[in-house]
Amino acid sequence: NGRTPLIAGNWKMNLDHLQAVAFVQKLHWTLKDAKHEDGSVEVAVFPPFTDLRTVQTLLDADKIPFALGAQDVSAHDSGAYTGEVSGAFLAKVDARYVIIGHSERRQYHGETDEVVAAKVKAALKHGLVPVICVGETLEQREESGPTAVSVGQLEVALEGVPAGADIVVAYEPVWAIGTGQVASPEQAQEVCAALREVLAAKLGADAAARTRVLYGGSVKSANIASFMREPDVDGALVGGASLVVDEFAAIIRYQK
Ligand code: G3H
Repeated sequence: NGRTPLIAGNWKMNLDHLQAVAFVQKLHWTLKDAKHEDGSVEVAVFPPFTDLRTVQTLLDADKIPFALGAQDVSAHDSGAYTGEVSGAFLAKVDARYVIIGHSERRQYHGETDEVVAAKVKAALKHGLVPVICVGETLEQREESGPTAVSVGQLEVALEGVPAGADIVVAYEPVWAIGTGQVASPEQAQEVCAALREVLAAKLGADAAARTRVLYGGSVKSANIASFMREPDVDGALVGGASLVVDEFAAIIRYQK
């Protein structure tokens, strides 16, 4: 289908800048002759804000082919927003991606669909690629079925996004995050396909064909291949398993 698979490691609030350097170097050496080197799989790491500069310097110095991403971005450009980090600053540390609307931000920091939409626009304005996260709780799945919540969240997040925009979508069922209770490949495929239809309706057929839709939620080396076999799953957003070098390397080396 022409879409380069993306394996993204969301470190969440783990690894300080010294641990980050050791981790990235070890991962690079573990992967030395893996396929991320030839570009057939894209690898991205999402450290905490305080690690971004250090990790970017290391990637540059050692010519390590991982992309860098942040875990959140402010909806604002600058000003009196204590504790926020703007897209302009992320662009200056050469971040390529930014996770937006992760369920942990929605749940613990009150991020609404409207806030998510504003952050998506802010990311695009500063040349970042938003990784737009959507997903339902178990209660919502039982109430409204597998696709309705994610479809609704993505529809709002895409308000005002131009057809040519470079974005990534991640389906992360809340009940599968950090729980070890992984979605089945069929469940992931069903929602990812529905999200691709939203992309087609909102941004057009070209964008839908080009945009990567990831699955996230208890992805491990033992289950990655089963997700990657699904036609509408273009990669994974990995939490816990992205913090273990050998495990994350094995995910990146998945075989169909
Ligand atoms: O962003 C990553 C997801 O929240 C998945 O986390 O792999 O620890 O379940 P997990």
